Amino acid sequence: MGTSASAFVESSDLAHPLQAGSRHLSRKCYIKEFMSAPNSRFIRACKALPVDRTPVWFMRQAGRYMSEYRAVRKQHSLIDICKKPELAAEVTITAAEALGVDAAIIFADLLLPLEVMGLPFRFEAAEGPVIEKPIREHADISRLRTDRASDLGYVSDAIRLVCKHFGDHLPLIGFCGAPFTLASYMVEGGGSRNYVHTKKMMYSSTAAWDELMQKLVAVTSEYAAEQVQAGADTIQIFDSWVGCLSVEDYRRYVVPHVTKLVQKLQATGVPVIYFGTDSATLLSTMKETGAEVIGLDWRIPLDEGWRQIHFRGAVQGNLDPVLLFAEWKELQSRAEHILALAAKRPGHIFNLGHGILPETPVENVKRLCQFVREHSAK
Ligand code: CP3
Repeated sequence: MGTSASAFVESSDLAHPLQAGSRHLSRKCYIKEFMSAPNSRFIRACKALPVDRTPVWFMRQAGRYMSEYRAVRKQHSLIDICKKPELAAEVTITAAEALGVDAAIIFADLLLPLEVMGLPFRFEAAEGPVIEKPIREHADISRLRTDRASDLGYVSDAIRLVCKHFGDHLPLIGFCGAPFTLASYMVEGGGSRNYVHTKKMMYSSTAAWDELMQKLVAVTSEYAAEQVQAGADTIQIFDSWVGCLSVEDYRRYVVPHVTKLVQKLQATGVPVIYFGTDSATLLSTMKETGAEVIGLDWRIPLDEGWRQIHFRGAVQGNLDPVLLFAEWKELQSRAEHILALAAKRPGHIFNLGHGILPETPVENVKRLCQFVREHSAK
């Protein structure tokens, strides 16, 4: 376990995959140089390798449903927690240990890169995220900065603390937003129902849209690569709202950019998880980005989703988060059903179809985790 000097690859891209002009440099780079738990059950499953039982973790496993998190939130704002590595590490570790999951996910927020690009935002209790000056014109996009990703170093600092704590016992997931989902917040100014401003820009100012996507890929790829260098074992790309697009629009306006992001991240040596919701019609196109793991929400049976990507690579999902509010018998039978649909094929990571909701009974999350561990080992 731990770092291994045995597996190295020769590559022109690996050492500094994100710096322009690095392509001509031929370097040897150990792909496991940075990863903390490359041989863990979870990372093996990401690569669709056989494992002893199904790995399990939950999106938003550190959140308001958990009393330990609420206690920290009483003293600190969400952004404070993100920006103080000791606090972010504590919240990350506490949730992973309380649940007994097979991976931790670094505590941060999807929108942090907006600030370093020049778009300040805040969280309003009733509304969620609010971007102070949404971008609507080409000139707004031209002003966005791409040279300050390293100002997000507090996230990597938190990752280093978590990795020091877990060593190679538990893998750590880093994450970033996908360009479409981040753009939707930047353009709408917050959450949205119909994404009118975002789609309007996409359809009528395609050059501006492409520039925005490119800038987002530049910043998020550098940010996520720093997370890998700090010890993250995989990067999950959250494209939470991409399901609002038709397949044609997704393919034309989004896929080329996400594919670049996936390639840049893979050049760091880690497997990539690509997650979206409302994505049943997009799955085979999402797979064309080359991501090793595709996230499945709850709207499609697990085996059907997997079949759509021809059982190539791994899938993660896909229990409806609202089932955690049901009686244990129902919750258990639905979890059992998902495991049956996975049919012990290598490459299933048990998760919800989206994040844990704030009012979720924590005991059900713990019991579900234990059930998946025990039941999948049989
Ligand atoms: O999963 C984890 O445990 C890691 C932490 C994490 C947070 N945000 C912390 C957080 C992760 C992975 C995210 C990602 C994120 N942030 C996404 C993508 C995931 C998804 O749900 O699709 C999005 C869209 C955001 C933006 C964002 N941040 C929203 C829409 C909200 C909700 C606002 C609300 O009040 O519910 C947040 C706030 C947020 N980020 C919370 C947490 C734990 C809850 C609010 C809090 O503690 O005050």
